[in-house]
Order: sequence, then C-alpha cells, then structure tokens
Amino acid sequence: MPSELTWLGHGSWSIASNGYTVLLDPYLDENPVALVKADDLEADFVLVSHGHGDHVSDAVAIARRTGATVVANFEICQWLARHGVKKTHAMNLGGGYRFPFGRVKMTMAQHTSMLPDGSNGGNPCGFLISFPEGNVYFACDTGLFHDMKLIGEAGVALAALPIGDNFTMGPDDALQAVKLLRPRRVVPVHYNTWPLIAQDADAWADRVNDQTDAEPVVLEPGAKIVL
Ligand code: NI
Ligand code: MN
Repeated sequence: MPSELTWLGHGSWSIASNGYTVLLDPYLDENPVALVKADDLEADFVLVSHGHGDHVSDAVAIARRTGATVVANFEICQWLARHGVKKTHAMNLGGGYRFPFGRVKMTMAQHTSMLPDGSNGGNPCGFLISFPEGNVYFACDTGLFHDMKLIGEAGVALAALPIGDNFTMGPDDALQAVKLLRPRRVVPVHYNTWPLIAQDADAWADRVNDQTDAEPVVLEPGAKIVL
C-alpha cells in the first residue's frame, strides 16, 4: 500500500506507511481548524519538531495513551520523559536513523523551541523522511534558509512548507524555498489557523505553478496525499 499523508491542519500530519502510523507535530485539541481530537488518533511514532505549544501540546497525552515512541531532539525527549512518556528516541540536527516506516533525518530550522513551561527545548528542526515511494521534507516552523538547496539535492517528492508569515516563512519566502528545494510536489501548511497567519493558499499555488516546476497541492484539513 502506498504511503498516505493526511494533513490535520496547521503543522499536524498523520502518516500511514509500511503498516505504521506516524503523527507529526500533533496539535488538535486547541487547534481551531482541526477536525479530530487527540483522543481520536492512534500512533506508533510521534515526531515533534520543536517545543512550541502548537506542535508539542498533544504529544504527551497521545504518547502516554498509545505507547508511541516520540522522536524529537534530546532536550524535548528529556522533557517528555519527565511528563510520563515512556518511549522516546532522541536525535539531533544532521543526524538520521532508519525507523521501520522510513529513514528520518533531522534538518535545521530557523526558529526557536522553548517548551510551554519555559524549559529549554533545544534547537528546532525539520524532518526529511525517506518513504519507500520517495523523500518528503517537512520544513516545520522555519524562516527561509539557503541550505534548503542542499536538502533538495536528496531529491524531494513532496515538501510541506509553512506560508503563514509572522511566525514562519510567508508566501514570498516559501516561493523562494520551492525554487531552492525543487520538490516534485509542494503543500502549504501553517496558515489560516488564526487570523494572524491568514493567507490565500490558492493564490500562492498559482505563483508556484507560474514560477517553478513543482506541482502545488492545496489541502483542506483532513485531506490526504498519496505518495
Ligand atoms: Ni513554532
Ligand atoms: Mn508553529
């Protein structure tokens, strides 16, 4: 069965690959655009990109209920362990590891990562995940950085890029990111969750079509992409 990626809204994904369910940055219970709650989801693995509440908030409850292994940086893994999460897998920037659903490489992100209680959340990251069908790059929360060109050299089948502006790249820089990464398909995320990050994703998709070779895919929360 091909890998399937369901966008849950904001930066949250549920990924089905090789018989495993992988959640990325689950933010559901307080997410105004999410259609599912944390209790609705199963998980074998949970990936957390950084310590902000709109990425880590539901990870503790989900991991405790499901017994999922949480993959995050060292500092966030220590914090999760203090909050009763039994299984964590700590990584750091530039490192990769082969999980049963695919190889995960932790990539840099230009952002911050303090945890909700003020704890040190280490460095923020993105994830380059190698599924059987191809590489998917989740930039997660980040500003534009030129090393995206290097990430793109791995060959990216799909890139998930923030376009919301204010806290992350906005539409202009996300368009630059597409030009550096040269993905086959690109999906905009981290927008329209709140008025502060309202964006016209269809207008951005038109610019991607006009200026790059990538195919833009605009999703509604709950919709999926088949790799
Ligand atoms: Ni953030
Ligand atoms: Mn965020």
